[in-house]
Amino acid sequence: MSSAENIPQHLALPVPHGGRLRQAARDYGIPLAQWLDLSTGINPSGWPVPPLPPQCWQRLPEDDDGLLEVAAAYYGTPQLWPCAGSQQAIQTLPLLRAPCRVGMLQPSYAEHAHAWRSTGHAVVPLTADTVAAQLDALDVLLLVNPNNPTGTRCTPEQLLAWHARLAARGGWLVVDEAFMDATPQHSIAAHSGAAGLIVLRSLGKFFGLAGVRVGFVLAWPQLLQRLAAAFGPWAVNHPAREVARRALLDSPWQHAMRHQLHEQGTRLAALLHQVGLTPCGGTTLFQYVTTPEAAAVQQSLARQGILVRRFEQPAALRFGLPGDEVEWQRLEVALLSAAACSAGEWACGEGPVRREDSAPTTA
Ligand SMILES: Cc1ncc(COP(=O)(O)O)c(C=O)c1O
Repeated sequence: MSSAENIPQHLALPVPHGGRLRQAARDYGIPLAQWLDLSTGINPSGWPVPPLPPQCWQRLPEDDDGLLEVAAAYYGTPQLWPCAGSQQAIQTLPLLRAPCRVGMLQPSYAEHAHAWRSTGHAVVPLTADTVAAQLDALDVLLLVNPNNPTGTRCTPEQLLAWHARLAARGGWLVVDEAFMDATPQHSIAAHSGAAGLIVLRSLGKFFGLAGVRVGFVLAWPQLLQRLAAAFGPWAVNHPAREVARRALLDSPWQHAMRHQLHEQGTRLAALLHQVGLTPCGGTTLFQYVTTPEAAAVQQSLARQGILVRRFEQPAALRFGLPGDEVEWQRLEVALLSAAACSAGEWACGEGPVRREDSAPTTA
């Protein structure tokens, strides 16, 4: 394990993310309140947080507050432990293995590669087609399922077969299911408890509670003990635990939201297709479009106060869901006007030009 001082400077830099609306407001000279932020995969119609009892703010969190039982019922396994967003687990897991070879898809959610690389592990880039062939040369296979930003999916059967091969020689399969809540039938959460299988879940996406910082690690008891010790006491604050407990209990809301998100995901894919930006993948919460025009499309939308996420390798865009009907109309008008004014040349149009064009290359 490397100490912080030994980390090469480029690995110590933070990974770029969507949602940097203040930066966009400065870059394009458009006031913050006028932006439509489609640069994340966070549900814009998240679980409605009610006022919390005063003791949530006054008293320290307690492990036996009922959160674990509610989470066990929701995820289908009692083998879990809460974390301050799955990010906390992403950063901690690499500390629990000696330097090893970790395979992951490229592109994928970049915090994983960053966390493993910066703690001395070798990250092996994979494509969906090369996983099986590379597996025996890996100690850890880490997959985001469905993948962010591409939407690539692995079946539970495939994942469990890979887990069996890895676990037989002390390897790990880590599956980040941050975007799985709308399709629980594809989850392998219920298999957690078997040595070598680690599943990460987040309340940030489907529940739209990214700001509260709650997630769960699902794994076998010894690993959960080591993680719990590394997280320390009170890692998830008391208000966050209470919000998570109530959201995970609210099955009527979850049921209705799954239905709503499936409709909206289909609508977004159809809208993008209509303007010539046919998605090549996605989930209910975002659509992924590869296009050589990615920079021009992003710029054209940003001039109209709409922020989408751009990637460089390959050149691509990720569109999150608009919230209400006004936002849907705004996106449609912006896409159509950009397409019409340029007749395919997306960069045309009046409006503020971004001062510094430094598109992030990672998810
Ligand atoms: C695939 C994936 N995993 C994990 C995370 C981290 O989520 P959180 O720390 O909010 O649970 C993100 C956030 O964007 C993500 O996209």
